[in-house]
Amino acid sequence: MEFGRALEKHLNQAFPVPDGESFFRDFPVWDPTRKLDVIYEIETEAGGESGSAALMATAAARVVRIRPLDGSGDRKVGIIGAVATDPRYRNQGLASRAVSRLVARLEEQGIRQQVLWGGEADLYKALGFEPRGVQARVPLRRVVPAEWMVRGCALVDGLKIGSGWTPGLIEAMRGRVGGIVLSESDAEWLSAHQAVEWRWIATADGRVVAYAALGRGIDLPNLVHEWWADDSRLLARVLMEHLGNHPTSELLGHPAHFARFGIWVEPTQLDSPTREALALMRGVTEKEAGQWWFWGLDSA
Ligand SMILES: CC(C)(COP(=O)(O)OP(=O)(O)OC[C@H]1O[C@@H](n2cnc3c(N)ncnc32)[C@H](O)[C@@H]1OP(=O)(O)O)[C@@H](O)C(=O)NCCC(=O)NCCS
Repeated sequence: MEFGRALEKHLNQAFPVPDGESFFRDFPVWDPTRKLDVIYEIETEAGGESGSAALMATAAARVVRIRPLDGSGDRKVGIIGAVATDPRYRNQGLASRAVSRLVARLEEQGIRQQVLWGGEADLYKALGFEPRGVQARVPLRRVVPAEWMVRGCALVDGLKIGSGWTPGLIEAMRGRVGGIVLSESDAEWLSAHQAVEWRWIATADGRVVAYAALGRGIDLPNLVHEWWADDSRLLARVLMEHLGNHPTSELLGHPAHFARFGIWVEPTQLDSPTREALALMRGVTEKEAGQWWFWGLDSA
């Protein structure tokens, strides 16, 4: 079986993805047929050639540039994902082996910092990954003025509101603060992402002045995880579009983002020892990670 299809089948089973859906619909960045700059590590059944033998375990990585919030300069980091072991072969160390080989390959390329998202903290701790960074959530209903939901809020003349992907989004996303530096190939898969609910406000000539993306399939349900706006009123206005359909949804962000838009965050989300970490990271100090942010689609 061709590698792309074999990997899709393996990931669909491991996660598990509901029948008729695909892991690559929610995580297109790991789809080998997209020919992005991704490295794969696989474990196959004994004696099999890669590509033809059944996959037992997989892990993938891509190298991206992260732009710290304090302006200290872009850094190259490895983002790891698609870590999955066939349920029949679990707890034999296969995922650990695949991830550690991936880490070794990244280090050979001089990429000493790696990031991943996964609930299995023990597995990753043994490989040197620690919870790092900070994230906070604020209910959308706290950001959108209550009276707008009752009486509505008109847009100023010349602005239009829309949904779904629009080409102006990629330019607007390049203007956001923090996150990974988007390349041309990112524009290709981002625009093809089918599991994200986009809302935006644009000028008549298509410049996006506010955007908010909610959900990404099996991950980040009920969360607005990609967002930015020229000002806080436009941000509240675009979020209002989501609030009607998703009354309990929340906005996910770094404390600095909330501060910038004048949004109040519960102090317990920022100070408590049980606060939510941004990701599991390797080779990154807590201080450095505190200046990092990954938007919802960066994390893949
Ligand atoms: C998570 C997953 C990849 C682990 O694969 P695996 O090949 O069984 O992992 P390993 O055998 O290398 O496990 C190493 C250690 O992690 C622990 N571990 C494995 N799965 C775990 C889980 N779900 N929660 C907590 N610990 C876990 C194991 O107990 C083992 O510890 P030990 O060495 O002290 O006994 C596999 O369960 C899977 O495919 N899950 C579904 C997909 C997924 O959620 N992927 C992660 C998101 S990126």
